Amino acid sequence: NENKLQAIIGHAKEYGFVFPSSEIYDGLGAVYDYGQWGVELKRNIRDYWWRWMTQMNEQNIVGIDAAIFMHPTTWKASGHVDNFSDPMIDNKDSKKRYRVDHLIEGFAETLPEADGKALLEQMEQLLAADDFAGLKTLIENNKIKCGVSGTVNWTDIRQFNLMFSTQVGSVAEESNEIFLRPETAQGIFVNFLNVQKTGRMKIPFGIAQVGKAFRNEIVARGFIFRMREFEQMEMQFFVRPGTQKQWYEYWKEQRMEWHRTLGIPESKYRFHDHVKLAHYADAACDIEYDFPMGFKELEGIHSRTDFDLTQHQTYSKKKMQYFDADLDENGKAYGNYIPYVIETSIGLDRTVLMILSEAYVEEDLSTEEKQDSRVVLKFIPKLAPIKLAILPLTKKDGLPELAEELMKECRQHFKCFYEEKDTIGRRYRRMDAIGTPFCVTIDHQTKEDQMVTIRHRDSMEQERVPMSEVKNIVMKAINA
Ligand code: GAP
Repeated sequence: NENKLQAIIGHAKEYGFVFPSSEIYDGLGAVYDYGQWGVELKRNIRDYWWRWMTQMNEQNIVGIDAAIFMHPTTWKASGHVDNFSDPMIDNKDSKKRYRVDHLIEGFAETLPEADGKALLEQMEQLLAADDFAGLKTLIENNKIKCGVSGTVNWTDIRQFNLMFSTQVGSVAEESNEIFLRPETAQGIFVNFLNVQKTGRMKIPFGIAQVGKAFRNEIVARGFIFRMREFEQMEMQFFVRPGTQKQWYEYWKEQRMEWHRTLGIPESKYRFHDHVKLAHYADAACDIEYDFPMGFKELEGIHSRTDFDLTQHQTYSKKKMQYFDADLDENGKAYGNYIPYVIETSIGLDRTVLMILSEAYVEEDLSTEEKQDSRVVLKFIPKLAPIKLAILPLTKKDGLPELAEELMKECRQHFKCFYEEKDTIGRRYRRMDAIGTPFCVTIDHQTKEDQMVTIRHRDSMEQERVPMSEVKNIVMKAINA
């Protein structure tokens, strides 16, 4: 619901997770900055995805880091120059522009569920047929107005390319125009043979990449859900032609398995098969997550055929073939072919929003004596920005020195936070609000027995443990 999203946006700003970009100039639409804890959370998610793909996975997957700028022909070949666009419609009076699907989706949400669903089905069919006249009629017949009173004077629907362009060098000629990449995938395709040859990779194998992508999204919606500058975590898996269906199913299952390891209940996810396939795909689905705004796309899994590599071969006139020495059922080598590709593509920022939405809890802790509440971010320890807070009870009597000893040991292994100001209760609450799973308090007794109090964020239970055990307790939770 909208209130929960607003609460998360407010909390993310107040506690240093996400700020509007260039906020002192009133921000920039659909662009955000990550603050001190947001950057740690995002990095932990990115690192975990990276390790899961390139280290923990049973398949042979290596990573690359390609440049954001690419030769402009890349985007001709990939189809983005001609096809990477969304249907838009303008209100002639207010001059406001809308993405047609967003406009209709927003309206569908205001209808009773069955009516909304029926409307969305009609929309999907019209979109799949590129029937713009039909879509305009749908908008007019449903009197979709976007809060405007009276009749709305709509323009016809037309396509609007989402790529940002800029110039290289000093002369602003058309030939110098280059694009900011709208997906990271093309950096993988153009490097396919570089990696395959230098890494002596045998099919099937994958190439993973994480990096920025840019899209001139026309309507900024849903906080870091839809941004103009965002990060993607993509993996292209190269397979033998004819085996793509089975690998597509394999990667659907594998990616869902990754999501399960985040500790999020499976009921919060669902698959959504694409009715309209992108220009490059022979099968495609989304993994949707139940965001505060409802079920929305989080990740795409696409069977991209040999479309991209074939296109690059045509445009670059460089062979994009792989030689497969394995023998087929007739004992003949498979020989040269352009591999097929299964792609998994997930937005890092959308994943941050999912993790924040899942973790954010407002708890009522009132007792008969007093009213009390807390906001806690229940991150799994692996993803928490700070793993351990070390809190000496007082600023004197040698307690900070003991705390420093523990800091020295633990910060070699994970991110710690030291704080000596304020009451312990307040310090705990601040750590709850940024999702720190463990707090350790060092008190006068510690000097005698080398024992400390460790407090667990979710249960708020406290126990006495030897100071020498703290590091292991936290490490065990991070690696769980
Ligand atoms: N290479 C395939 C590709 O880019 P996509 O479905 O257009 O496919 C993949 O994008 C993922 O990237 C989406 O599922 C979403 O998580 C993320 N994404 C796309 N556009 C985004 C935006 N404007 N802001 C944030 N994330 C976005």
